[in-house]
Amino acid sequence: MIFDDTYRPFFENARQRPLIDRRFGVCEVDLVAIASRTGLRADQYRVSAGSRIGPFASYHGGNAIEQLCRSDADFVCVASPDHRHFAAARDALNAGKHVLIEKPSVLFLQELDELDRIARRQGKLCRVVYHKLFDPDHKKLRTFVADGQLRHVNNGYCSLLEPKQISGKQFAEWLGGRNPGTYVAVHYIKLIDFTFGGRLVSVSCSGQRGIVGPADGNTWDSTQLRLIYRYPDEREAAFDIHTSWVTPDNFPGYVEQEVQFRFDNGVWNGHSRRRGIECTIEGKTPLEIKITINNHYNGTFLEPFGDRSQRGYGIEVLEQFAREVACVEFGSEGTREQRLDAVRAMEYADISADRQVVAAVQAMEAILERHVAGQPDALVRVNDWAGGLVLYTPGNSSPEVLYPAEV
Ligand SMILES: NC(=O)c1ccc[n+]([C@@H]2O[C@H](COP(=O)([O-])OP(=O)(O)OC[C@H]3O[C@@H](n4cnc5c(N)ncnc54)[C@H](O)[C@@H]3O)[C@@H](O)[C@H]2O)c1
Repeated sequence: MIFDDTYRPFFENARQRPLIDRRFGVCEVDLVAIASRTGLRADQYRVSAGSRIGPFASYHGGNAIEQLCRSDADFVCVASPDHRHFAAARDALNAGKHVLIEKPSVLFLQELDELDRIARRQGKLCRVVYHKLFDPDHKKLRTFVADGQLRHVNNGYCSLLEPKQISGKQFAEWLGGRNPGTYVAVHYIKLIDFTFGGRLVSVSCSGQRGIVGPADGNTWDSTQLRLIYRYPDEREAAFDIHTSWVTPDNFPGYVEQEVQFRFDNGVWNGHSRRRGIECTIEGKTPLEIKITINNHYNGTFLEPFGDRSQRGYGIEVLEQFAREVACVEFGSEGTREQRLDAVRAMEYADISADRQVVAAVQAMEAILERHVAGQPDALVRVNDWAGGLVLYTPGNSSPEVLYPAEV
């Protein structure tokens, strides 16, 4: 799905127009290979894309990633299901490729540490796609915060509700044992973490089951995550993030996304479906075409000058990564090491700066796992006396250390 949404248009755009930048000149970006489970959609894509894309290899089956790693690709984008990111990213880094991973980067801090270690050893980038940081509305929020217009966040809520077809059809192959929180709450965990800074203090989470799987099973319909952050002035903020993948398919938008952040001196309200369009077309909306269309994320357009285009912040974020790789490899300023360090210092995407997001995900998954085992309402404390990530379960006097080192 995400390949079709963003990677496909990125590579097709780049084939038409190479990257041009004073720092590295002209850089062609070719899609050289795809690794997938069955190869079926890659074959379909080759036919449907025609001349919009150049020749590429398609590897599938058990050793698809191994074959991809032997190709001469300069960078590898990992867009497999959430719990299959780590192994692919590790193998690609070990093979000397730069790596871009779809959110959520990885599910455990131990995995994050390993990827960061390999990337540094190999002198390669390991970065994560959080396209919501490129949404103009979120950039404005961060600008207001950075400029002191909005002062000290106190609390807030976010919700992101996916349609049933995501859990019932799109992800049917890998949905077992998964939850919508890991899949989409990370968008907002990252937004909160990156925009407001601060130290993550604790994580709690509840959830519901019974639609996509049995009521006592380990596959979740919806989750409610709560994060507490502490800031350098010792004040705290609480954030509630609600997610679901069982919203009816005839919902007017693709996904329902809403945020509210309350500050000492203001309130920020954002609603994905209320920032633009409402369109009705008989027989098409809301299933084939959505009533509320997000033209900022990823839209197909007839440009005023006649071209057909596909653009938006979901594609922009990929182009930015390709520019960063080009800068490291072909830039003319400073040494390669200096250019690598300069890109890594742009923390919005670096794996090493994703620690608190991964910590929140790891905590949430552990809490849900305990719930399935009949011990609901666990809480994870971050950087307390027992370790970096520590799980406390009601009625159990000994905490479980999920990650011993400082988060
Ligand atoms: N940034 C966003 O807004 C956004 C949106 C959707 C999905 N995503 C993320 O992108 C990732 C993929 O999601 P999707 O919706 O495209 O899922 P999808 O099920 O449509 O595609 C997953 C792809 O991974 C391949 N795959 C699965 N197991 C594999 C393996 N072991 N080896 C090689 N390939 C394998 C499949 O063949 C398929 O092509 C997820 O991590 C998801 O969280 C991000």
